[in-house]
Amino acid sequence: MDRPHNSIMVIFGASGDLTKKKLIPALFELYKQGLLCDDFAILGAGRTQFTDDQFRQNMFDAVLKYSESKDIDKDILKNFVLNAYYLPINTEDVNDYKLLKEKLDELNTLKVTHGNFIYYLATPPILYETIVTNLGTHNLQYTPEEHGNKKIIVEKPFGFDFESARKLNAHLHEIFNENQIYRIDHYLGKETVQNVLVLRFANGIFEPMWNRNFIDHVEITSSEFIGVEGRGGYYEGSGALRDMIQNHMLQIVGFITMEPPSSFRANAVRNETLKVFQSLRHIKEEEVEKFSVRGQYTESVIRGEKIPGYRNENEVAPDSRTETFAAIKFFIDNWRWGGVPFYIRAGKRLPTRVTEVVIHFKKTPHHLFSKDNTEQTVNQLIIRIQPDEGILLKIGLKQPGAGYKIQSVNLDFHYSEMSDIELPSAYGRLLLDCMLADSTLYARGDAVEECWRFVEPILKQWKENPGIKIYGYPAGTWGPMESFDLFENSKSEWRYPCKNLTDDGLYCEL
Ligand code: BG6
Repeated sequence: MDRPHNSIMVIFGASGDLTKKKLIPALFELYKQGLLCDDFAILGAGRTQFTDDQFRQNMFDAVLKYSESKDIDKDILKNFVLNAYYLPINTEDVNDYKLLKEKLDELNTLKVTHGNFIYYLATPPILYETIVTNLGTHNLQYTPEEHGNKKIIVEKPFGFDFESARKLNAHLHEIFNENQIYRIDHYLGKETVQNVLVLRFANGIFEPMWNRNFIDHVEITSSEFIGVEGRGGYYEGSGALRDMIQNHMLQIVGFITMEPPSSFRANAVRNETLKVFQSLRHIKEEEVEKFSVRGQYTESVIRGEKIPGYRNENEVAPDSRTETFAAIKFFIDNWRWGGVPFYIRAGKRLPTRVTEVVIHFKKTPHHLFSKDNTEQTVNQLIIRIQPDEGILLKIGLKQPGAGYKIQSVNLDFHYSEMSDIELPSAYGRLLLDCMLADSTLYARGDAVEECWRFVEPILKQWKENPGIKIYGYPAGTWGPMESFDLFENSKSEWRYPCKNLTDDGLYCEL
């Protein structure tokens, strides 16, 4: 496996939650596994006044608190944080970038990083354009071969709607080339999301069935047990459609439905997902109510604990109309998927944390065993993204005994059975890819804009049309019952996923 060249990662917003909870634990994971370059440095930049030592102590504590790795060796962790430095600057003040330049020059000599710098934008998005402009003013994006590579990682949300995403792309392109820009969508870094590609393209058996001739419909759920967890202020301006569907869930749709790429190179893969996004049938504004449902959790008691409703969360308006649940039905207008409905739902304060894709295959054309069976066999392939990561195929088999009574049985595989290795964190995988200049699992600018274009009519109608209801649902339930109406005349309904991949139904363990 390739190892990245020596480099410095500058984190803007280094005292924020993302740095503590995700970035530093992910970098430590890479360090521990020996996957980082020999000489690297992390340079935290932000308004908070830290010394290097204080910043190192914070990082040390953050890894102990937030890392998913078991058995953290404190000596290794101590050595890791020695690679961290801090520069207090006002990121909005262009003059402070002179200090940044000086600091980078100093570290570049100390760590022999040959001018390879990665800038990570982990600040509130409102600062993105200013930081990019300021980097440009001081030529910190300049990257001819002999001066090393400069890359920029942009955290989500990438824009607020189509127009703001387009503007942000245009602005980034004034300073950086597209191949220097890494738009992060941490779902693409999840091991099981990448495995969708392997399942589809490393096995010959699925491809002949992977189309409208054999697939009845596709369902994707991303449910969270947690609420907004102190992020009410951010969430008020976002909502489930922006927070989960426009990015994470559409990226999963891209991998599930794309054509086989000509190679596994970044642009070959990203060209194919872009084509999917370009083929999404846009929901007409007058049909938004028919094809989408939104909801908001209300107060309830879950397992004896009183859970506040969304409108009672901190920094949430008491009359807020921000959706904490969104479900949509849509079609992909191309040869492979023409006429196949896709159902997607995402929500907070649902019964359990699950992300999964369910491929519902068509029923047999002739029902040979109908005499003994009221229900027909349902064949489903479930790709479990998290938790209990794995794959489950449901088929019908004969119950032992007289007659032909058919029972649904499971063929299942769980990643936990494959090896003892902990699944790498999504951020770890993506940070390493960026250091290796591999952007396959990063979203390209045109694809991000296309995804915004798709959700735009829904966002617009939900905002401007007070006639479109936002349904309350008690925390701990599967969202508003109206989301089942999306299935209209079909006999299908949402699967009730459970903690364990192989269970389902209303009463399984959550
Ligand atoms: C983030 C959203 O992008 O993804 C959060 O902003 C959400 O609201 C999170 O909780 C879910 O990620 P994961 O990896 O826990 O499924």
